[in-house]
This record gives sequence, structure tokens and C-alpha cells, in this order.
Amino acid sequence: MKMQRRALTLALLATPFALHAAEPVKIGFLVKQAEEPWFQDEWRFAEQAAKDKGFTLVKIGIPNGEKMMAAIDNLAAQKAAGFVICAPDVKLGVAVNRAAKRHNLKVMSVDDQLVDGAGKPIADIPHMGISGYEIGKQVGVGLLEEMKARGWKLDEVGVLRVAFDQLPTAKDRTMGAVDALKAAGVPVANIVDAPQAKTDTESAFNAANIAFTKNAKFKRWVAFGLNDEAALGAVRAGEGRGIKQDAMLAIGIGGSQTALNEFTKPTPTAFYGTVLISPKRHGYETAVAVFEWATQGKAPPPVTLTSGTLMTRKNQAELRKQMGL
Ligand code: GLA
Repeated sequence: MKMQRRALTLALLATPFALHAAEPVKIGFLVKQAEEPWFQDEWRFAEQAAKDKGFTLVKIGIPNGEKMMAAIDNLAAQKAAGFVICAPDVKLGVAVNRAAKRHNLKVMSVDDQLVDGAGKPIADIPHMGISGYEIGKQVGVGLLEEMKARGWKLDEVGVLRVAFDQLPTAKDRTMGAVDALKAAGVPVANIVDAPQAKTDTESAFNAANIAFTKNAKFKRWVAFGLNDEAALGAVRAGEGRGIKQDAMLAIGIGGSQTALNEFTKPTPTAFYGTVLISPKRHGYETAVAVFEWATQGKAPPPVTLTSGTLMTRKNQAELRKQMGL
């Protein structure tokens, strides 16, 4: 009898703890452009991490600052432990940091590194992004190789840089490409900037159209931008003006569905290739890092930069398999 009562008491005592332990930890994953395939892929791999490690992932699209602040409050109300974020504007860094500290949430950035009022990266927010300048150089080298294969003369080709310079990684990426082209002898006068208002295909299309109109003297073009959508916008704008696959070459950055859709078209378009980067690393590893930081106190490394590989129609299947995609 005595034993029984003791067992009962113990069981009762244990109940609140058992309930607590059964409640999974919540980790947020906030992205600026939820409709973009890259971010869909990141979410998919973050979900995989949640499944493997036993936490709950809360995915929220944050197209502007207001939605971003509401999402952070929402996470706090749900008693989340932390979140990964790709903010709609990197200059919102101070606001993100303040909100996270106020709510006692761990925060790590992905893709776009957050900056302070002076434009300096915020050191106490760990970051994972691509090595933008190097990957941009790979874009430039890829274009040069294909121009050579086609026998194009470097000084006859217009270079379209779809630009989004307010985002540091976008500037790094496109300037990497510009520098590789310049180093090979492309005249600076041939480089045309096409500033886009947003980082999607439509904005790139509009920007490229204006640039083509102003520079009708070029009969051949190479194009690039911060992502596949930027390169694709330029390709679609070219097609609309009769600058087709034989007169234009574009290389994007990404390798998600936007690029794959182009590669599976029966006839090749001017979208020649992309530098494949890893949504698996960015989605999976950041989600795990924030989870382990919140639950085990293990802070992620301050900055992790990932690499990329040139992918074309020819090597796409093999390469994606190699990268676990
Ligand atoms: C930025 C771009 C995205 C994607 C990621 C990759 O956020 O806007 O399209 O290229 O970088 O890090």
C-alpha cells in the first residue's frame, strides 16, 4: 500500500515535467519572398531538419517590414525559441535584433546579412550566406567560356548587369561577374547596368527592356544578376525584342525550379546556365543551428559562406544528385 501511494505521488509529480518535455520546441523560418522557388526549397530542407531533430518549424513569409515585425511578435506569442530570417530589407537589422532580444529569441540570418544604421553587418547575429563575389566570378567565367565556344568577339558583346545594389550580396555577386569579364578584356564601355526595383523576374524584365532600348547598337548580349529570376527576366526581355538564344547568353545564380524549368524546355533558351548553390545547406543547417543554440546553448559560427558550381543543361541531373537535391 505504502509503495503504491509512493508510486502514485511520483507519477503525479512527474506529470507536469512529462507534459513539458512532450511539447516540441518551435523555431521560426522567416523569408522575404515566399513565392520564389529558392525560398520554397530552403523551407523544405528546414522542415526536414525539424523532422530529424524533433522540433516544430513555423514558416512565415515577410514581404515587408511591417509583416516582419508582426511575424516576430507572433513567434514570441507562440513561445518559439528562436528563428532564422531572410529580411525584406537588410537595413532592418537593428529592428530585428532589438525585437529578438526583447522576446528572448535566438536569431540567425540566412542569404542576406543584416546591417546596422551605418551599413555594417550586425556582428551578434550569426549568418549563413553564399560567397557572393566568388560565385559572381564563376558566372563571369562561365559566360566567357561559352562566348569563346561560340566565337563571339569580346568587344562586340553588350554586357547586361541586372543590378540590385542596395543589397550587399547582390552587388558582390554582380560585381564579381563584371570583374571576371573585365579581366578577360571585355571593354568597360560595353557594360550596361539595369537596376531592378525588386529581386523578381518581372522587375528584371522591366529593367532589361529599358537597357536594351537605350543600347540598341549591341547585336549580341550576355546577362546576369543576383539570382536566376534576374537572369531570366533579361532573357525574356531579349526574346521580346528578337534577341534569342543565338544572340544572347545568360547565367543565373540559384539552380532551383526557376532554372530547371528553363532547362527542361525542348529548345534551349538564352538561359544558358546557373551557378548551383545549396538550399539544403541554407535551410537545414540554419534551422538546426538555431535549434541547438536555443536548446543546448551552442552558438552558431558568426559567418558561414557557402560555395557554388556552374550548372548547365548538360550536367544538371548529375550535379543536383551530388548535392543531395
Ligand atoms: C538572396 C536572393 C535570393 C537567393 C538568395 C541566395 O536572398 O534574393 O534570390 O539568391 O540570396 O542566398
